[in-house]
Amino acid sequence: MLLSVENVTKTFGRNKAVDNVSFALEKSAMIGIIGRSGAGKSTFLRMVNRLTDAITGAIKFDGRDILHLKAAEKRAWQSDCAMIFQQFNLVPRMDVVSNVLHGTLNRRSTFATMFNLYPQGDIHRAIDILDRLGIAEQAPKRAEALSGGQQQRVAIARALMQDPKIILADEPIASLDPMNAQVVMQALRRIHEEDGRMVIANLHTLDTARRYCDRVIGMRGGRIVFDGTPDQLTTGVARDIYGADASFSEAATSTSIEALETPAERAVHQAEATV
Ligand SMILES: Nc1ncnc2c1ncn2[C@@H]1O[C@H](COP(=O)(O)OP(=O)(O)OP(=O)(O)O)[C@@H](O)[C@H]1O
Ligand SMILES: [Mg+2]
Repeated sequence: MLLSVENVTKTFGRNKAVDNVSFALEKSAMIGIIGRSGAGKSTFLRMVNRLTDAITGAIKFDGRDILHLKAAEKRAWQSDCAMIFQQFNLVPRMDVVSNVLHGTLNRRSTFATMFNLYPQGDIHRAIDILDRLGIAEQAPKRAEALSGGQQQRVAIARALMQDPKIILADEPIASLDPMNAQVVMQALRRIHEEDGRMVIANLHTLDTARRYCDRVIGMRGGRIVFDGTPDQLTTGVARDIYGADASFSEAATSTSIEALETPAERAVHQAEATV
């Protein structure tokens, strides 16, 4: 097994955010985790890269239990699984290349970091990665001057700078319009296919999970309630994952609709879909 998750549980007080979750992956794949707000998707990703600690269970990568790594080994693991967030988490006033070079932080000395000294080779590599993502010409600009889709690609470039084995993406397209969402998902898909890196993406929307992922995991109330291929993810199954009754409409979980709506409209639609 490349990745095996065994009975992992995380509680916050009496709330089981992730409840006895298990699944295994024989080889690298692009995985989508779906489920409504509060299902435990982010908590799960954060346990994989040790931003938060599981209470019980094991997560093994290549046979090695990563939940008990300490100090340098833990940092090495965190650099093996790069994280991408909904809000990009770039340094807005800093130029794009420097933002990408931040991906090498965990292997540079404090001195080099303090004085913003980067080896020439790293700078070239950063530009190459930006080029691969189609945004090399943005390199000298401040991150804040870029569109959301471009900023998310900068965040992906920063992740690639770590040469990670896994990319963990927490709602990578939730703040993007449909066109940018597509560009970002295609970039992640290509990185998976061309480099063989595993991608685990939390996604709010069914259609995105179906279109880009090899396997979809549905979470509800901290538990896995679906684990299968996009084909197996029927409307009935989706209804179960999202905890909706017969009035469930797929449109309410569609990227295109969601992105065009204001948060208030989206809340209304989600409420309608789950009443
Ligand atoms: N730091 C925390 N302290 C207390 N409770 C938390 C914390 N983080 C998450 N939770 C709780 O754990 C549960 C799962 O939250 P999580 O953020 O993992 O859900 P999610 O599926 O990512 O939701 P969303 O789609 O809104 O991002 C929720 O009930 C949430 O309130
Ligand atoms: Mg979340």
